[in-house]
Amino acid sequence: MDRIRISGGNELRGTIPISGAKNAALPLMIASLLTSDTLTLENVPHLADVEQLLRILGNHGVDVAVNGRRERQEEGYSRTINFTCRTIVDTTAPYDLVSKMRASFWVIGPLLAREGRARVSLPGGCAIGTRPVDLFLDGLQALGAILDVDGGYVTATAPKGGLVGGHYSFPKVSVGATHVMMMAATLANGTTVIENAAREPEIVDLAKCLIAMGAKISGAGTKTITVEGVTSLSGARHRVLPDRIETGTYAMAVAMTGGDVLLEGTDGALLESALDTLRLAGAEITQTETGLRVVRNGNGIQPVDITTEPFPGFPTDLQAQFMALMTRSSGVSHITETIFENRFMHVQELARLGARISLSGQMARVEGVGRLTGAPVMATDLRASVSLVIAGLAAEGETMVNRVYHLDRGFERLEEKLTRCGAVVERVSE
Ligand code: UD1
Repeated sequence: MDRIRISGGNELRGTIPISGAKNAALPLMIASLLTSDTLTLENVPHLADVEQLLRILGNHGVDVAVNGRRERQEEGYSRTINFTCRTIVDTTAPYDLVSKMRASFWVIGPLLAREGRARVSLPGGCAIGTRPVDLFLDGLQALGAILDVDGGYVTATAPKGGLVGGHYSFPKVSVGATHVMMMAATLANGTTVIENAAREPEIVDLAKCLIAMGAKISGAGTKTITVEGVTSLSGARHRVLPDRIETGTYAMAVAMTGGDVLLEGTDGALLESALDTLRLAGAEITQTETGLRVVRNGNGIQPVDITTEPFPGFPTDLQAQFMALMTRSSGVSHITETIFENRFMHVQELARLGARISLSGQMARVEGVGRLTGAPVMATDLRASVSLVIAGLAAEGETMVNRVYHLDRGFERLEEKLTRCGAVVERVSE
């Protein structure tokens, strides 16, 4: 099992190219199930989650060509992938495929919309809370789907003649359920209104792509999305937007170690609340023509309180990284997690590096310490693992991060990107 060894203490200086967003690429890839034409996606990151979804889509009949080639080879940063699903050959998404990644459950929307039926295993994914699927099921029911949950599978059937437009107001904001309902509604008969929809940039990116495929969608990026059903969708070409979580993660790494880094090809507008928070903590952040420049010179890290919220609030996917930063602040900060109930697994690992953090329900109290010291730590989920890397970069001595397969799910070429900026980071394979 791979591990990552970090010798901390160096400032970060240089350029880090930001990859296409994992959380946009996954739903965009799933949208290829909605059409028999070719959907071409540019800037698809090379990540374990993307590879896993390629296997799942292949099982449903999607033909995949990466950079024009159908046989897979080692690829560079940015890949252009053609997805063609002439016919859906299987409407079942089995447990052994879906259990590895929660987002694979989302195929339920397009399968149901195009074929009128889907049988999808209940999902797996990061162990950061119970993460139920009730909102997906209620949303699809509002489009006329008949649902049955049995033996670990959801079986969904559309009424004769297909899904019908409906009205649904989410009792709680869900990114995944918004993606699924929006995709399903594109091929429904009549108009669908989705209220209290998620407003994340990845929702807007999916809507843009669906519109390019011929869907009639308005309001994506606001709380109310309206979808007027069409009879079929065509192919399209779409570029995956930059990864705002990767952007925020490296911005926090620079704030942590000090230095001066250009995050290339990204856009600060995708993560304003996180950048505002980082500015309060002491980083200088400026948008340039080529990306986002993050600088911290000399000045210390100020304590800042945050509460995670759906977009446009502070993202839960940056909470662990921000906590790592706050371990080095000059005071006490409070971090409240409102999206997932079990997303503090990094706390005990950060403590191994010398952090002083106490938990009370959904709130962490982080008392800044003068220094962190390297230690062996265990990655527990995707975002938690990268918080340990950030802490390791600022710790004195050697930090060994175990179970890095979590990192490979969501961070493209992490060691290479950090090494290019002066960090001492290496992968140790056994
Ligand atoms: C997506 C992101 C993930 C991010 C999360 C919140 C992808 C691939 N993943 O996950 O990185 O952390 O948004 O920004 O885009 N919930 C229910 N019932 C449901 C569905 C969700 O109660 O049927 C709850 C969840 O348990 C959680 C909250 O709603 O407490 C938000 O989850 P959701 O927005 O659905 O997260 P994901 O789409 O899984």
